[in-house]
Amino acid sequence: MKSKKRIFTSSIVGFFLLIVFLLFPGQKQELKETPGELSRVHGELAGRDHCGKCHSAAKEIEPGNCLNCHEELSRRIKAETGFHRDKQENCGVCHPEHNGKNHRLIQWDPADFDHSETGYYLSGAHQRITSCDHCHHGKNSPLRKYTKSFFLKDNRCSACHKDAHRGNQPVCTDCHTTKDWSVDIW
Ligand code: HEC
Ligand code: HEC
Ligand code: HEC
Ligand code: HEC
Ligand code: HEC
Ligand code: HEC
Repeated sequence: MKSKKRIFTSSIVGFFLLIVFLLFPGQKQELKETPGELSRVHGELAGRDHCGKCHSAAKEIEPGNCLNCHEELSRRIKAETGFHRDKQENCGVCHPEHNGKNHRLIQWDPADFDHSETGYYLSGAHQRITSCDHCHHGKNSPLRKYTKSFFLKDNRCSACHKDAHRGNQPVCTDCHTTKDWSVDIW
């Protein structure tokens, strides 16, 4: 009588252990160690409550998690535009974390940047512009707390140039190129 009951109890316990195991297959184990402090821009995510904001349960970096916060970037990737249009997979390779507060998440030299990587080709007079800031300035860029963004709110010709035709000729490139404003009609 007694041993039957014990077998019954232990199989119930075993059943629940199995369920627990199936629900949480060893994931708690893997994220136990925190490798190092997060960079300043992600300072709000310090602490164990936030690991899952970037990591998946299986510890990998989940791009979808990053993009939950970085909505503007997410929209660009979906629209297949901008520098990240073909780089949506391995965020952690270019933006590694846990290297301390002062570590810069973006390691690049804007002065040595191939603009065609953005999908927007600088042609004509645009190739001779000496400073990125002539086009990527505060008025046309989204505000960032820590650094400057190279996204543009508006990339149409008329965002940066006076529209000599006051809205009557909306598709500038039907007549103009970036060489100069003269129009070769004949
Ligand atoms: C802001 C996003 C972010 C948060 C929050 C975050 N991590 Fe990470 N973590 C990363 C990135 C990015 C990498 C680098 C991945 C790579 O190199 O591909 C990483 C790597 C790791 C690694 C692997 C390190 C290695 O050397 O292989 C571990 C372990 C880890 N994180 C644990 C944690 C734990 C634990 C927490 C919570 C306390 C946490 N992380 C919070 C972004 C984050
Ligand atoms: C091949 C390297 C590379 C990969 C992969 C990459 N990035 Fe970037 N990221 C950059 C560079 C370079 C910049 C600076 C230029 C720019 O803003 O596009 C940048 C800028 C950013 C910015 C700042 C944009 C702003 O203006 O606010 C965010 C946020 C970002 N990346 C997130 C991500 C996320 C999320 C992923 C994965 C889905 C990712 N990156 C994949 C190289 C990369
Ligand atoms: C003639 C104006 C002009 C100049 C000069 C210029 N850019 Fe751009 N840049 C643009 C436009 C327009 C886009 C496209 C923005 C879009 O598609 O929303 C762009 C896009 C970018 C992007 C991608 C942003 C994204 O959406 O992912 C980066 C990064 C960038 N530029 C960096 C630079 C750097 C670095 C320099 C200087 C070396 C520079 N640009 C000079 C006009 C310019
Ligand atoms: C909970 C929201 C959140 C999550 C999740 C998150 N970020 Fe961020 N990230 C931010 C904020 C906030 C900033 C600072 C923006 C500013 O300067 O205004 C930032 C800034 C950045 C920057 C720009 C750094 C610079 O120097 O300009 C990069 C790159 C970046 N994050 C990449 C990532 C990647 C990759 C992941 C996923 C591993 C990720 N972020 C996850 C909120 C988040
Ligand atoms: C249907 C053709 C057409 C379209 C479309 C068009 N333009 Fe023009 N634009 C002209 C002509 C023609 C001139 C005079 C050119 C000349 O003097 O050789 C001109 C001249 C200009 C000038 C020089 C004015 C000056 O005072 O020197 C600017 C700047 C200009 N256009 C901007 C734009 C912008 C911005 C757009 C788009 C919003 C646009 N144009 C669309 C035909 C066009
Ligand atoms: C993000 C800003 C930006 C965008 C978008 C842009 N330009 Fe420009 N463009 C500039 C700047 C800055 C110069 C340098 C001269 C100046 O400061 O006005 C310039 C110079 C030019 C010039 C040489 C004549 C001049 O005004 O100095 C032409 C022609 C021109 N752009 C045409 C275009 C056309 C056509 C488009 C759309 C296809 C376009 N631009 C989109 C910023 C921009």
